[in-house]
Amino acid sequence: MRIVHMVGARPNFMKAAPVMQALAESGQTRQILVHSGQHYDFNMSDVFFQELGIPAPDLNLQVGSGSHAQQTAAIMKLFEPVVLEQRPDLVLVYGDVNSTLAAALVCAKLLVPIGHVEAGLRSFDRTMPEEVNRILTDQVSDFLFTPSRDGDRNLTHEGVAPEKIHLVGNVMIDTLIRMLPKSQEHSMRDLPERYAVVTLHRPCNVDDLAWLGAMIQTLQDVSHDIQVLFPIHPRTRQRLAEAGLGNGQDNGLRLLKPLSYLEFLALESRATVVITDSGGIQEETTYLGVPCLTVRENTERPATVEAGTNVLVGRSLDRIRSEIARILAGNTKQGEVPPLWDGCAARRIAEIITTRC
Ligand code: UD1
Repeated sequence: MRIVHMVGARPNFMKAAPVMQALAESGQTRQILVHSGQHYDFNMSDVFFQELGIPAPDLNLQVGSGSHAQQTAAIMKLFEPVVLEQRPDLVLVYGDVNSTLAAALVCAKLLVPIGHVEAGLRSFDRTMPEEVNRILTDQVSDFLFTPSRDGDRNLTHEGVAPEKIHLVGNVMIDTLIRMLPKSQEHSMRDLPERYAVVTLHRPCNVDDLAWLGAMIQTLQDVSHDIQVLFPIHPRTRQRLAEAGLGNGQDNGLRLLKPLSYLEFLALESRATVVITDSGGIQEETTYLGVPCLTVRENTERPATVEAGTNVLVGRSLDRIRSEIARILAGNTKQGEVPPLWDGCAARRIAEIITTRC
């Protein structure tokens, strides 16, 4: 059986790694890895391949950055001939980035079966580009691999046939479980016992420069009580520079380059609190039992709030301050790990693919 994997952006890599490994162990597949080139910096892409032991891509489409339409169209145009040449039995796409949707649309038109890993998640907020990517990818997919029960419910509600939906658990947590022991060798120097980690990159947070400035001011205030470490996504770095806020040493925050998987996991696993707008980090902190404040009005990962340690603080600076004060006072939300976030999700996916495809 011939399987093409499409990956493109940083959060795809840790999801594809365990699935490729589980399929390789099945010994029944020939796998071809295509990288769209959506993320291209060494520390946004190559370092993840190195650390996670992902084989070098068979093909890199090198699309780079652009508007959503430009990026999606460029991937589609370059991916179509690959699918025509390879004639795969299945194309696997991951998560909710532009590369995910572009590859799924190409396959839907060529009548090539599609498997969507991390299907069914919904924020119910169509102002997020990722929400549009999720809905459309799920509509054209043949195998919908969901990480949690809310995903199954969302898909059923949207009319997806039940036989296409497979609750398999969380592949991102497969990678976390595998890499956690190794990450502990990557501890940063000069780390205080208590510290906060911040990551922000969503357009709704970083493209509004007035809001970004207000958040930075709040984080500076917080840094009087606890050291704040802020690994900066390239999009956020550009926006901070535009707003004249880029100098971390002057503003009391410890600004860092984007970290590798192992470096970030080491930092996150020992943090007193994580403040983020990422999807994957909400899941990782829930697994690790680390308090997480999500600077968004909604989440497509409700299990992290209902069962886990995640708290949605919305667009409220007062709420960020009060939640941090609560955590520093030792009053933390206790969480549980959702079912099937157990390190075996990719094996379940491989089993389904090799028996039903
Ligand atoms: C993308 C995903 C988002 C995911 C995030 C993780 C979509 C719609 N968004 O957002 O869901 O959470 O990746 O990082 O697919 N840039 C670089 N180097 C790189 C990549 C990007 O400098 O290697 C800069 C470019 O200026 C680019 C900007 O970052 O324009 C944004 O990159 P893009 O891929 O458009 O979206 P992300 O914000 O990374």
